[in-house]
Formats: sequence, structure tokens, C-alpha cells
Amino acid sequence: MNNLLEGKVCVVTGASGGIGKSIVGKLAANGACLVLAARKMEVLEEIKQSLGSNDNILCVKCDVTKQDDLANLVAAAVSKFKKIDVLINGAGVSSQYPFWTQPLPDIEKLMFTNYFSYVMLSRLVVNGMKENGCGHIVNITSGSVMVDPPPRNFIVYTSLKVALRAFAKGLFWEMRDFGIKVTSIFPGVTKTPLTGKLKEVSVDEDRLMSSDSVADTVMFALTQASNACPLELAVINQQTPWTKPVIPFKQDHPKQ
Ligand SMILES: NC(=O)c1ccc[n+]([C@@H]2O[C@H](COP(=O)([O-])OP(=O)(O)OC[C@H]3O[C@@H](n4cnc5c(N)ncnc54)[C@H](OP(=O)(O)O)[C@@H]3O)[C@@H](O)[C@H]2O)c1
Repeated sequence: MNNLLEGKVCVVTGASGGIGKSIVGKLAANGACLVLAARKMEVLEEIKQSLGSNDNILCVKCDVTKQDDLANLVAAAVSKFKKIDVLINGAGVSSQYPFWTQPLPDIEKLMFTNYFSYVMLSRLVVNGMKENGCGHIVNITSGSVMVDPPPRNFIVYTSLKVALRAFAKGLFWEMRDFGIKVTSIFPGVTKTPLTGKLKEVSVDEDRLMSSDSVADTVMFALTQASNACPLELAVINQQTPWTKPVIPFKQDHPKQ
């Protein structure tokens, strides 16, 4: 155990899932006080148990698509730990379809989970950080933002991540004189439940990154000097994860 984050209060959304759970493990190993948020409370409690079930970990049931749940999450964190030093926005869903077949409810779910909750939670924590004169907001964005045009079958997911990237950059420029850091992490294709469905598109399992690689990148962001902000960090698969190209950089219209 290191003490790089000793006493730092970190709120993590998506804490029950692949990348969020790995981040939680690294934060705990570095002495952080943790607020774990997700809908599956039983999974959060299991994670808390696995980390020694100490009083420095609070689990909060939170559906990030619901504004009241987001407000309750922030209130619960401040009530328990008196402040929030770090917000890690990691909750996310995927929905891969040609746009013309994308289920309509998925569009709303993507918008509220992958974009709205990140912006709203930032708004809910930023004034406390401003009062404290420091804070760090980390958004788990996506390596897909570096593909232009947005990859086929991912255009709603990716365009929301592009918007999130722009929001985070703007937030940094707006808040940096108050001591607030903002970091966007762009993971490549990572082995988590979210990518489970990708097997259908000829994924090579050995080429998938581990969620620990993404969590290590988050740790890097959180442990830099107080006067240096890693604004954007991409951690991308060394080899393309596909056995045949499915996200070409130059996109022709698909053959019918
Ligand atoms: N895996 C990849 O290849 C990859 C690549 C680039 C970016 N990302 C991004 O990384 C983030 C995490 O993805 P992951 O791969 O770790 O996914 P995952 O394993 O499926 O985990 C998703 C997490 O989000 C939570 N979540 C989903 N909907 C929620 C809601 N309405 N309210 C609260 N929590 C909700 C889930 O918790 P509950 O179900 O318990 O609520 C779970 O903890 C996402 O933003 C994703 O876009 C992933």
C-alpha cells in the first residue's frame, strides 16, 4: 500500500463495472477515502468487502440518469467526508448499431448516462472544489474521439464522447485559476462487460487492454504535481483489437 492519495475523498461513478472497479482498487491501495456509486448496490458492497470494508468506503445507490440521484450522491459524500477532492465520472453504456436501426430508448440512455451525468455531476461538485481551492474531475471518455469521422455503428456514442471532450477542455480553462484540474482519459478497447458483445465482430481477446491499464492512467493523472494538469491522456491498444478492420480510418459507404 502506498499513500499517494491519503485522505483524498474520491467519488467514482460506474464503480461496480470493469474500468470503474479497477480504478477503485487503485485508489483504495493508495489510501483514498472512497464513495462508490452505481445502481447495483450488492456489487458495490462486495467490492467494499473485498477492500477490507473499512469506514473510509461509502457505497451509494445511484442511477446517474436521474438528477435526484446525482444530487443525493454528492450530498451523501459531503455528509460523510465533508468535502470532495476527486470526481471520477466512469459510468457508461454502449449501443452499437447502424444508426437507422438503433433502438430509440438507447439514444436517450446514451445521452443521460454518458454525457448528462458527467456534466451534471461536475456542476454539482465544482463549487465545493472552488471553495476548497483545489479539486480534480476525471472523465472516462473514449479513444473513439480520435477517429474522424466517428466510427460507423458508434456515431451516437462517439459524438457524445466528442462533446464530453469539448466540455472537459472548456471546464479546465474556466476553472484552472481556482485550482481545479480536469482530465479526459481516452481508453482504447478494454476487456470489460461493456465490450462483451464485440466478440461478434471478430475481436482478438489478447489484444484487448486490461481495465487496470486504464486505472493506471487515471492514477498517473491524479499524482502529478499540483501545478501540472494532465488535460488529456489516451491509452490505446498496441495492436488493433480486431482480427479484421471494423473501424477503418477512411470510411467508405458499406457495401449493401
Ligand atoms: N470498455 C471499453 O472498451 C471502453 C473503451 C472506451 C471508453 N470506455 C468508457 O469507460 C466507461 C466504463 O466502461 P466499462 O467498460 O467499465 O463498462 P462496464 O464494465 O459495463 O461498467 C459500466 C459501469 O457503469 C455503470 N452504469 C451504467 N449505467 C448506469 C446508470 N444508469 N446509473 C449508474 N451507473 C450506471 C454500471 O453500474 P450499474 O450497472 O451497477 O449501475 C457499471 O459500473 C464508460 O464511460 C465507457 O464508455 C470503455
